[in-house]
Amino acid sequence: MLELTIMQLSRTDPKIYALIKKEIARQRNGLVLIPSENYASPAVLKAMGTPLSNKYSEGYPQKRYYSGNKFIDQIEEIAIERAKKIFRAEHANVQPHSGSQANAACYLALLRPGDRVLGIDLKAGGHLTHGSPVNFSTKFYKFWHYGVSPKTERIDFEEVRRKVRKFKPKLIITSTTSYSRKLNFRKFRRIADEVGAYLMADIAHIAGLVIAGLHPHPFPWCDVVTTTTHKTLRGPRGGLILSKIEDRLDKKGKLNLAEKIDRAVFPGIQGGPQDHVIASKAVCFLEAMKPAFKKYQAQIIRNSRVMAEEFKKRGIRVISGGTDNHLMVIDISPFGIGSKIIQDELDKVGIFVNRNAIPFDKGPPYNPSGIRLGSPAITTRGFREKEARKVVRLILEVIENIDNQKVKKEVAEEVKKLTKKFPIYEDFQW
Ligand SMILES: Cc1ncc(COP(=O)(O)O)c(C=O)c1O
Repeated sequence: MLELTIMQLSRTDPKIYALIKKEIARQRNGLVLIPSENYASPAVLKAMGTPLSNKYSEGYPQKRYYSGNKFIDQIEEIAIERAKKIFRAEHANVQPHSGSQANAACYLALLRPGDRVLGIDLKAGGHLTHGSPVNFSTKFYKFWHYGVSPKTERIDFEEVRRKVRKFKPKLIITSTTSYSRKLNFRKFRRIADEVGAYLMADIAHIAGLVIAGLHPHPFPWCDVVTTTTHKTLRGPRGGLILSKIEDRLDKKGKLNLAEKIDRAVFPGIQGGPQDHVIASKAVCFLEAMKPAFKKYQAQIIRNSRVMAEEFKKRGIRVISGGTDNHLMVIDISPFGIGSKIIQDELDKVGIFVNRNAIPFDKGPPYNPSGIRLGSPAITTRGFREKEARKVVRLILEVIENIDNQKVKKEVAEEVKKLTKKFPIYEDFQW
C-alpha cells in the first residue's frame, strides 16, 4: 500500500516527489541536533499517511456533526484513553493541530480578553505563544514575564513571587523551550495559590521525559498541561491538552474545566480534527507505554549531559552550567562569529542546530548569541555517550575553523561516516 502510494505520487507530481526524497535523504544523512525535532517511527508516519485524512468529524466521540464517524470515534477514544494513562491526567483533548493551538485553546478556556498572564521570558526559555510582542497572545491578554537569575541562569522564584504579588495574574505559565533545567511545579503552585491563579505547564519539549518519570510531573500541581506530540514524545506533528476536570477557580460555573477546554478547542479555535494525525498520536502514545521508551528517554538525558560536559571541557560556556534535560544552549559570543553564520556553516556539513537567544542577550533576535542543541534525534538513531561527545568535537571543529574549507570537508566526511554507522529509516522505500 505504502509503496503503491509512493509510485503514484512520483507519477502524479514528480517535482514534489523528488523534493520529498531529497528531504528524507537530508534527514537520513545529517545530524539533527534541533531539540524540537525527532524521527517518528514508521508506524507513526504510516498512520498519518492514510485516508483518515478524508474524513470530517467536527465535535467529539459520540457527539459529531457529520455521519460516518463510527471508526473515527473509536480511534479518538483510544487516543484519549492512552493520553490520560501515560500522563496520569483526568482529562485529555487530542484534537489541537499544534502546540500553539493547544496554548491558544487554553487561554480561550481560562481567560477573558484583557486578563493578566505571567509567562517565562523568551530569552530565558519561553515560547512565542507565552506573550511575545509579535504573537496573538499579546493582542488579547496582558502578559508580563519572569526570567532567570543573572547569577545561576535558573528560574528565579523570588522574582516570580514578587511579580505575581504585584501583577496578580489570572494565569501563570511554566515552560522549557530553551530552558535546560528541571521545572519545580510544586513551587509554582504555591506562588499561584497566593493570588488564586491558574497554573499551566507547557511541556512541549519535555513530554517524553515526564512520561518516563525523568522530570517532575506537572500533576497534581498544574490545572492544565499543554504539549506538542512531535518532540521528545516522538509522535506526529501535533498538540495535546491535559487537564483536571474540576475548575479550582470556578467551582460553581456552568462548565467544568474539562468542558471549557473541549469547547475552546472546538468550536472555539478549530474546525474539524485531523483524524489521521489523531490515529498517529494514538500510535505514539502506545509506543510511549513500552519499556524501550523509558530507556530511550534516559539515554537522551545521558547524551545531553555528556555533550554539555564536553563543551565545558573545551572552554565553552553552557547556559546555567549544564543540563538536566534533552537540550542545552551554548554561548558562542566569545568566537566573534555571528550565530547565523555558525548555523549556516554547520548546515553545510550536515549538522543541524538552531541559533537561540541566551539570557539577557544583547544580540538581535535574528542573530542572537547562542546556539541551542538537543539530543532526542541523534538518540533515536542509536547514538550513545561516545558518539554524543564526538558530535560536540565536530561542531567545534567547524566553529574554530569557520573559513577553512579543508577542515569542513573532513567534518562533512565524518558526519557521513557516523550517519552510515547509525542509519535511520532504512526500510523506508522512496
Ligand atoms: C514550549 C513550546 N510550546 C509550544 C510550541 C509550539 O508548537 P507548534 O510549533 O506545534 O505550534 C513550541 C514549539 O517549539 C514550544 O517549544
